[in-house]
Amino acid sequence: MKKDLVQRKKGVFAARIISNHQFKGRFCRMSLELAGLGAEAFETVTPGQFAEFDLTCASLPSPEDVPVELRDAIERKILLRRPFSFSDVRIEDGRAIIDVLYAVVGAATVRMAGLKPGDEISVLGPLGNGFTIPVKKKLAILLAGGMGAPPIQHLAKVLAAGFKNIEVVTFAGAKSSDDMPFAVSDKNTAIGPAEFPDYGLEMLIATDDGSTGYKGLVTECFRQWLQTCEHKADDTIVFCCGPEAMLASAAKLCEAEGIECQVSMERRMACGTGLCQGCAVECGTGNSGQSVYQMCCKDGPVFDSKEVIFDL
Ligand SMILES: Cc1cc2nc3c(=O)[nH]c(=O)nc-3n(C[C@H](O)[C@H](O)[C@H](O)COP(=O)(O)OP(=O)(O)OC[C@H]3O[C@@H](n4cnc5c(N)ncnc54)[C@H](O)[C@@H]3O)c2cc1C
Ligand code: FES
Repeated sequence: MKKDLVQRKKGVFAARIISNHQFKGRFCRMSLELAGLGAEAFETVTPGQFAEFDLTCASLPSPEDVPVELRDAIERKILLRRPFSFSDVRIEDGRAIIDVLYAVVGAATVRMAGLKPGDEISVLGPLGNGFTIPVKKKLAILLAGGMGAPPIQHLAKVLAAGFKNIEVVTFAGAKSSDDMPFAVSDKNTAIGPAEFPDYGLEMLIATDDGSTGYKGLVTECFRQWLQTCEHKADDTIVFCCGPEAMLASAAKLCEAEGIECQVSMERRMACGTGLCQGCAVECGTGNSGQSVYQMCCKDGPVFDSKEVIFDL
């Protein structure tokens, strides 16, 4: 995939929490603001890029506010920053406002959920390469699996606002309705406006247990839908973010159909800037049969699906 060759500004900036609330089960939504150089750096963020949050100074919540299964986790010290992508980034009155949709899963995110409006955290970013939108495409399919939703939500907004010539269809999947990181409308077809704003785009939901929408894997829902799609493969592009098995399945389907596909990969990260070599993604080198390791944080997290050798 053609990498963005423009040297973007990145740095370590202070970000102030504007709001932070739990909206469903373990899912929370936080808005942060950056001023000055931070605002300039985040002004040009593309969907799929991310930032590393320093949560070491965030205070411990009281034990009764922590889910039982995570009570041991809160005792752990947090040494490393944690990576988060954005569900929206916008500029208001010269400040960058970043929305983050996150799941409380361990020591750092438990503390993150306790941050209050007015608190400050250190943010390193923006990092990595986001999704590339080829302007000549006529149809963009967005596939979100579980916590892959935030950058897909951001991408949906960018496409709806700036690429009116591209039809957009979104698929969101999770194990069950409770595992959907956003509210679902009563009709089970659209996603609640508070967590996944309705940009006027068609959206389809799939759950493994059928508790909402299509019963089965989101990639199977997409495969069936594709059979009725009238756009040519060349005019279509698929953007995916979610568990690796879902990305691999989407990549295989797209390759068979001759459709371009970009996948946002997830790895545990430390430095976030390519130095520690801890977030390797194995990638092929054409027809040679050889592979190389690219860094998810620096060369990705978004890759052309044909490059990636999935780790399943
Ligand atoms: C580029 C990128 C963007 C991300 N964007 C978001 C986001 O928008 N919202 C969100 O909720 N989370 C996101 N994550 C995941 C987030 O970074 C982790 O959930 C967080 O670091 C967990 O920290 P913790 O200390 O609370 O939990 P930990 O104790 O560190 O981990 C808890 C559990 O989550 C698993 N886990 C943690 N990080 C990862 C990872 N990177 N890949 C696979 N499994 C992992 C661990 O194996 C463990 O089982 C993103 C990760 C990456 C790499
Ligand atoms: S996290 Fe250090 S190289 Fe990617």
